[in-house]
Amino acid sequence: MNLEVMPAILVKDRTTLIHRINLTMPHVNSMHIDLMDGEFVPNKTIQPKDLHDLPHTNYVLHWMFQHPEDYIPSLELDAIHLLHIEAVTRKVFDELLQSKKRIGLAINPKTPLSSLDPYLNDVNYFLVMSVTPGFDGQKYLPNVEDKISQLRKMRPNTNIEVDGGINADTGFRAARAGANVLAAASFIFSNPDVSVPITELKGALRRGWKNV
Ligand code: DX5
Ligand code: ZN
Repeated sequence: MNLEVMPAILVKDRTTLIHRINLTMPHVNSMHIDLMDGEFVPNKTIQPKDLHDLPHTNYVLHWMFQHPEDYIPSLELDAIHLLHIEAVTRKVFDELLQSKKRIGLAINPKTPLSSLDPYLNDVNYFLVMSVTPGFDGQKYLPNVEDKISQLRKMRPNTNIEVDGGINADTGFRAARAGANVLAAASFIFSNPDVSVPITELKGALRRGWKNV
């Protein structure tokens, strides 16, 4: 299984976006970029139009948009697009899959896992939210570990990312439940040396995963 730590980049301007990408790029293989429209969640970030000419690395776009389908087809950035199950319809999902974009599904803490059932065989990337999306710096909700472990049982080889309140302790717990990708914002960017928390998260992920 591919174990990965990703910086979650929740910012309101392109300059800070580029700064955070460059700051963390030497230490990771992929970036998780938070996109919020002020409608699906009560907060607004950088917008799809800001995602041009980014440094060359792997990107996962976390779409907290009510209508991501209005933007994804014309976006040039090569990325995995994570759509919220709470925002997507079957029609929109199928159209995006057919457009050959790489699609994954994100699920909120309050949404039952069964809402993913109709899509389970269509994607190999899931994002389990461990906070209600909208803001960084929130507290990890441990009851999402049940959701992670159930999903891991159903899909042993798929990517399961966890996002929200992740630090070395909660990252270990989420990995032990079955997550193979950890995304973190505050834990990484509150440290003047981002390599320190990233190394801690990589250790927590490895240790947790051994216990899956
Ligand atoms: C929450 C975002 C997360 C957030 C994580 O709405 O999707 O990616 O940036 O922030 P922390 O790690 O501070 O909880
Ligand atoms: Zn996110």
